[in-house]
Amino acid sequence: MGLLDPVVEAARLLRSSRYAIVFTGAGVSAESGIPTFRGSGGLWRRFRPEDLATPEAFQRDPRLVWEWYAWRIKMVLEAEPNPAHRAIARLEEAGLVKAVITQNVDGLHRWAGSSNVVELHGSILRVRCTRCSYRSNLARVPSEIPPRCPRCGGLLRPDVVWFGEPLPRGELERAWREAGKADLVIVVGTSGVVEPAASIPLIVLSHGGSMVNVNPEPNRYTGLADVEARMTAARFFSLLLAELGLGDV
Ligand code: OAD
Repeated sequence: MGLLDPVVEAARLLRSSRYAIVFTGAGVSAESGIPTFRGSGGLWRRFRPEDLATPEAFQRDPRLVWEWYAWRIKMVLEAEPNPAHRAIARLEEAGLVKAVITQNVDGLHRWAGSSNVVELHGSILRVRCTRCSYRSNLARVPSEIPPRCPRCGGLLRPDVVWFGEPLPRGELERAWREAGKADLVIVVGTSGVVEPAASIPLIVLSHGGSMVNVNPEPNRYTGLADVEARMTAARFFSLLLAELGLGDV
């Protein structure tokens, strides 16, 4: 691929695909001001996941965990989709992308207008009760920390997947189905180290599909992808839309 322009090459693959999907991680939201997990400025550089993002941490100190989530919820509520989210939605509208599978919990793909979205790691803008079946969306940071269930008084928790927890069954199955159908996956802004999510793009390769890897840094898919786009998500998707004649974002 080397000398060919990765954007031109990605556009060619997308145009000739039958069923293209997009697989995203924290990097797609970096340009919306939401910190990633690994790498410089990453959350796991400043915080220990085992203190904040495990069921044990929550049992030990729900207030500490909730304070951290309250900070992140505020950040997500203040963030907006960036050109990458908007372009991905535009590509779905144009029929060139069939599904978005994301590891992100920020809801920005849906907000940007993507409709077939699989959220593998839940949503930071939802809470659920640790005792009963109560679930609710969050429009603001909870005023009481830790928040309590209005139905049974139990502790509410963020409706996200923590380390050591299984992924939501329905979402994981949808992701497998989408990857099973796909002949092209555009992987955007993920290090590719958290399983089982990170294996989903590999399903596409395993049945002969192609991969475009969009990331300013090398990652787990470097060397496996047909096209390496060593640039930020917003830059790649802006160039891609222009190349496809789909206008600006
Ligand atoms: P990581 O923080 O591991 O990786 C972010 C990736 O985005 C890195 O490869 C960066 O090089 C890349 N990146 C940074 N800025 C970018 C930009 N502007 N455009 C494109 N790429 C950029 O985040 P994830 O791979 O999403 O799990 O992490 C996977 C999971 O680990 C998360 O879903 C979370 C975390 O623990 C749970 O919450 C369960």
